Amino acid sequence: MARSPQAVHDHVPTVSVTLNVNGIEHRLDVDARVTLLDALRDALDLTGTKKGCDQGACGACTVMADGKRILSCLTLAAQCEGRAITTVEGLSADGGLHPVQEAFVRHDAFQCGYCTSGQIMSAVCLMAEGRAGSDTDIREFMSGNLCRCGAYPNIVAAIREVAGGGDA
Ligand code: FES
Ligand code: FES
Repeated sequence: MARSPQAVHDHVPTVSVTLNVNGIEHRLDVDARVTLLDALRDALDLTGTKKGCDQGACGACTVMADGKRILSCLTLAAQCEGRAITTVEGLSADGGLHPVQEAFVRHDAFQCGYCTSGQIMSAVCLMAEGRAGSDTDIREFMSGNLCRCGAYPNIVAAIREVAGGGDA
């Protein structure tokens, strides 16, 4: 006999996962369906990572896994065992601002700020990827990070300043 949707819901397994976030290990028991985004925000109280669309379209939830940018809303927490996760809270080792964060402040690269942590995480990775050589490249490779306030020119200017490249 087929199981009812409620019965299926009741039998979602809990998994134990150790998340290494910003250099600290956290042992969590989570629903197997929980995303990394929800684990960060709800279980670890790291609310700097934002939930925009929750379906991979806006970039607000961007974090790093082993130095590469990922969308935490499309990544299950259970997939992150053994990976080094970095959120915006862990960008700077000494408690000060990361140079990209400082540049965003200098260039007024935000208005409401909702997209900003994702923009900054993406920008840091963009430079590590060697893709910030021109304004065109910056726009292209930051295109997964949307800003409803339209702060794009200032975001590009901030990244250009830190990357030392760009057109202007
Ligand atoms: Fe993840 Fe929009 S919240 S891409
Ligand atoms: Fe408001 Fe980007 S600063 S969405």
